[in-house]
Amino acid sequence: MTLLEVQNLHTHFITRDIGNQVQVAKALNSVSFKVDAGEILGLVGETGAGKSLTALSIMGLLRPPAEIVDGSIRFEGEDIVAMQRDELNRIRGAAIAMVGQNPRGALDPLTRIGEQIARVARAHDPQLSNDKATSMAVESMERVGIADPLRRAQAWPHELSGGMAQRVLIAMALINGPRLLIADEPTTGLDVTVQAQILDLLRALVQELNMGAMIITHDLGVVAQYCNRTAVMYAGRIVEEGGTRSVFGDPRHPYTKALIGSTPEKLDFTLDAEVGGGPPNLYALPPGCHYIDRCPKAAAQCNSMPPNLALSATHHALCHFAAGDQARAS
Ligand SMILES: Nc1ncnc2c1ncn2[C@@H]1O[C@H](COP(=O)(O)OP(=O)(O)OP(=O)(O)O)[C@@H](O)[C@H]1O
Ligand SMILES: [Mg+2]
Repeated sequence: MTLLEVQNLHTHFITRDIGNQVQVAKALNSVSFKVDAGEILGLVGETGAGKSLTALSIMGLLRPPAEIVDGSIRFEGEDIVAMQRDELNRIRGAAIAMVGQNPRGALDPLTRIGEQIARVARAHDPQLSNDKATSMAVESMERVGIADPLRRAQAWPHELSGGMAQRVLIAMALINGPRLLIADEPTTGLDVTVQAQILDLLRALVQELNMGAMIITHDLGVVAQYCNRTAVMYAGRIVEEGGTRSVFGDPRHPYTKALIGSTPEKLDFTLDAEVGGGPPNLYALPPGCHYIDRCPKAAAQCNSMPPNLALSATHHALCHFAAGDQARAS
């Protein structure tokens, strides 16, 4: 079942310069993807690609000068973009929940853990009694593998390790029973063992609760290991999307190839050093392929918008040459 369907999403930063001329930074350009129940989509791309902006657009958390200028975001069939604030509030934080990076920074240092989690439940349902909200908080802590949750509910944020703090944030995200969980860099700053524990937990929760999830990361290794599908983002566009095996086994966009090929041991993004150059200026994007200045294969037709070429029913690449070199010759 399709939970989330983003279609043709354009999110831009619209400002005026000193001369009152309108300036537009086209941060997201025709972004389309789906997330099904029970699956994890990995959204990867280097810094500034638009990953967090995609998440914020979905959560309805954009702040001016960012705005959605075109496209739809359907959650369980309803277009969130067209929704009124109160309708959106019903969905945000409950049906769709988000876990961010820097868990410790996201917690209120002056409130005990259990109370912070209970607040999220009460914010969604103000009728909830304190006792009920507290027992829900303890239950949610148990679900994310926090041992002795009754005692831990009394802890202060500074008493928690980074991994434990991230579990607390996941407990908060889960308390209102979301169908979709968006995790933006959920393991940045955690050590490798704890990272694996958190990702194992997310994967188990997706299966157990039949949620859909989107994991946003720089780390291709995380995507390869945990995500059913992969979407690769470059300068505000999804340049390749498909089953993780298919994308990693048979990458067709030169950017995806560079990512996978450049740092096989680390599987991390150091593309600037490897390939050279940086992403284009969002205020003056090239008319065709956004990757044109860095692409070893760039040719005349790359100045026009590349087709989103279907390589199979579920694997697409946004490149004139995605079908292979023979297509280039013809
Ligand atoms: N006020 C603004 N005006 C213009 N452009 C902006 C503004 N704020 C952010 N941007 C641009 O929006 C783009 C998308 O940023 P986003 O935070 O979504 O990137 P990201 O893929 O999440 O990167 P990271 O991996 O560093 O978290 C960036 O290129 C950024 O420079
Ligand atoms: Mg980000």
